[in-house]
Amino acid sequence: MNTDYLSRRGFARAAGLAAMSGLWTECALAQRALVGGKVPPGTIWLNANENPAGPGEAAIAAMKEAMATAGRYHYQEWGNHSATIGRSFGLERENVILGSGSSEVLCAAVHAFTSATRPLIYSEPTYELPIALARALGHKAIPVPLTASYAADVKRMRQEAVNAGGGLIFICNPNNPTSSITPKADIDWLANSLPPNAVALIDEAYIHFSTSPQLVSALDHVKAGRNVVVSRTFSKIYGMAGLRVGFGCAKPELIQAMAPFPAGVISWVGIRAALAALEDPRMVPERQARYIRIRADLCKWLEGQGFSYLEPHANFMMIDTRRNVRTVIPAMVERGVAPGRAFPPLDNMLRVTIGTETEMEKFKRVFLEVMKA
Ligand SMILES: Cc1ncc(COP(=O)(O)O)c(C=O)c1O
Repeated sequence: MNTDYLSRRGFARAAGLAAMSGLWTECALAQRALVGGKVPPGTIWLNANENPAGPGEAAIAAMKEAMATAGRYHYQEWGNHSATIGRSFGLERENVILGSGSSEVLCAAVHAFTSATRPLIYSEPTYELPIALARALGHKAIPVPLTASYAADVKRMRQEAVNAGGGLIFICNPNNPTSSITPKADIDWLANSLPPNAVALIDEAYIHFSTSPQLVSALDHVKAGRNVVVSRTFSKIYGMAGLRVGFGCAKPELIQAMAPFPAGVISWVGIRAALAALEDPRMVPERQARYIRIRADLCKWLEGQGFSYLEPHANFMMIDTRRNVRTVIPAMVERGVAPGRAFPPLDNMLRVTIGTETEMEKFKRVFLEVMKA
């Protein structure tokens, strides 16, 4: 009987293989995102920055139609899909890589542009998936604390890349978990002064949730042919997290370097839904206005209750609970509200996804109850 899989070495090898496909870190993150303890029926989920609106009408109609022909791979049509997505941003098919969520694009960038000597340079705290993958692969990963205004410290990140002779500079904009932004001037400065062998990976998963003039997509740097990869997702404003559709934009050389790493063609049903959503001109502005309004209401309420928070630019925000959130989270879960987990080193900050108006009313009630307990 082969018991190698039971041995420590066998397990390490299996984990290594899983990491190679990006699976290991997805599983590890899903595990970490799980809400522990007993979850009462009717719990509201404000823990994963999903969009309670779900897919729009056009996307649902497209999925119904796609289901009937889901028996085939539809290989011939995938080039058109990349072309359609590229065109919507003034780019070509060669500038686009599709992924099973933007997670797969982020993982592809880590595989392609980091190594044992070429580091992933990331803000702390930020979205952990690329960091977890770099570590699982034995690649170098260098944290750089956010600035006092919770922006990426682009000067220090660039310096780290200079010191290492290159690297992948990962900036999530707006940032998860802080919901803060790195201003346009900083992104522009970095994109224009990247040292040799350095690539900037700008994760714009939440870019639609802010109208700040300081927050501008880095896609112009892609168009200008700089060493910049922009990742986007249909999981957030488009409300399709379960469909797993994301994409990255970059110049063709960078796309080609990443291309071998995603697992393969993504779901036919998912991509048909994504393209239908992209063509709906009302969806993004309508949802943007809605979530900005609900978020502003929560901010005002928190101020009225004497709680401070980080100025939010995404569909989630961080609230200062003035105590370790590890004591707050289980008490909220017990009462039917599942907030985000702890994000060290911001140990007193509770990350809360912006849900529907009704959900946020329940959040307010439970939050006050727990804070007063
Ligand atoms: C900042 C950020 N980037 C990327 C992702 C990955 O999302 P998806 O793989 O669903 O596109 C998430 C998920 O929460 C995220 O918070």
